[in-house]
Amino acid sequence: MKGIVLAGGLGSRLHPLTKVTNKHLLPIYDRPMINYPIQTLVKAGITDIMIVTGGQHAGEFLRLLGDGKEFGLSQLHYAYQEGEEGIAKALSLARAFVGGDKVCTILGDNILQDDIAPQVRAFADSSLGAYLFLKEIDDPQRFGVAVFDNNRRLQAVEEKPPNPKSNFAVIGVYLYNASVFDVIDTLRPSRRGEYEITDVSNYYISKGIADYHVITGWWSDAGTFESLYRAGALVREKALPDRKGGKID
Ligand code: G1P
Repeated sequence: MKGIVLAGGLGSRLHPLTKVTNKHLLPIYDRPMINYPIQTLVKAGITDIMIVTGGQHAGEFLRLLGDGKEFGLSQLHYAYQEGEEGIAKALSLARAFVGGDKVCTILGDNILQDDIAPQVRAFADSSLGAYLFLKEIDDPQRFGVAVFDNNRRLQAVEEKPPNPKSNFAVIGVYLYNASVFDVIDTLRPSRRGEYEITDVSNYYISKGIADYHVITGWWSDAGTFESLYRAGALVREKALPDRKGGKID
């Protein structure tokens, strides 16, 4: 399984913090944001990792991460994204790197406690096309939100719905098989002008070849002032004792 960390975008919701740097280089407590999603992949046993970034600060990722030795990796791969056309478009840059493999994509601003290794292994052995991770939260309307049928089967994901049909947010970790790049080729930009990862997931859900897991540990994105602050506080309060116990590092 290949791992992709998506670390592009303008981070405009965090201006002026992101005026002179990339959002994913901002600190979450004692580490740069991007360290956490890389660590999530490595913990899950994924060691073939590509960072997709863009803009004026792409070189800083090389300076920070190098060949990934700090994470126990022997090398890291990088792709450069021109422009800002959404998460699915950014993922499409990893096409040649992924080849015929399956792929775990993680958004560079998603910080989570759970170890996703069991789901990654199960997906690797399955014939599913997609696998999503959900988290029950109080304010799902700022995320992709799961729609279930009466048997708790996933029917669709709605992107930032004003009236969410459930409290289950789709977190920024997505497992897809190699057909994902053909699916991305068929997408049209959404109303906000982006190629949406939600549309990719909905393709697999509509074909009946998607499954999900509800995470129980803490999770935060970090793309707004509030969530950036919250993510730092979560790491400080929750991850720090874990790290000392050796669970995080
Ligand atoms: C993106 C996805 C959304 C997902 C979220 C997780 O939103 O579009 O479906 O729930 O990441 O962090 P963004 O925060 O990029 O607007």
